Amino acid sequence: MARLAILEYPDKRLRLRAEPVGEVDSEVRTLAADMLETMYAAAGIGLAATQVNVRKRILVIDISEARNEPHVLINPEIVFAEGTVSSEEGCLSVPDVFDYVERAERIRATYLDLDGEPAELEAEDLLAVCVQHEIDHLDGKLFVDYLSELKRQRLKKKALKKSRRSTSEADRPRQAISARLI
Ligand code: NI
Repeated sequence: MARLAILEYPDKRLRLRAEPVGEVDSEVRTLAADMLETMYAAAGIGLAATQVNVRKRILVIDISEARNEPHVLINPEIVFAEGTVSSEEGCLSVPDVFDYVERAERIRATYLDLDGEPAELEAEDLLAVCVQHEIDHLDGKLFVDYLSELKRQRLKKKALKKSRRSTSEADRPRQAISARLI
């Protein structure tokens, strides 16, 4: 397994739309394993292939405290959604930014599992939020897109300033990582 580099806002590659996976083969399974390793190493609870610069509709999630309940969703689609919930979100691709986003409270998603078999996931609250956040990534959308124009302009300025700093500084481990980086 290998850890992959995570793209960070405002990298334009985060805006590209991912393509459906045609066949769930060993390459896809290796990518999913690498994505899980990358997500766990970054203390995240979700990661989409778009974030590691792969344009395939694959996402991984683990919201468990013990970090031992991985979900891998290939070609995920939300087929049912109800209710609304507003919760604080963060994102591995948008470091140090947390804000409230409104999403469906309960969802049902269809996807292919690692054997290429059709499967379904019913989710509510955090897991439901996580699935919606990750599917957004596959569509080139970021949680900051839901924030006000003013807030987004400020974030962009801050992010650009940060990316101009020296590499050594950027490579330092992040402090105070939240458990809700999705
Ligand atoms: Ni994210």
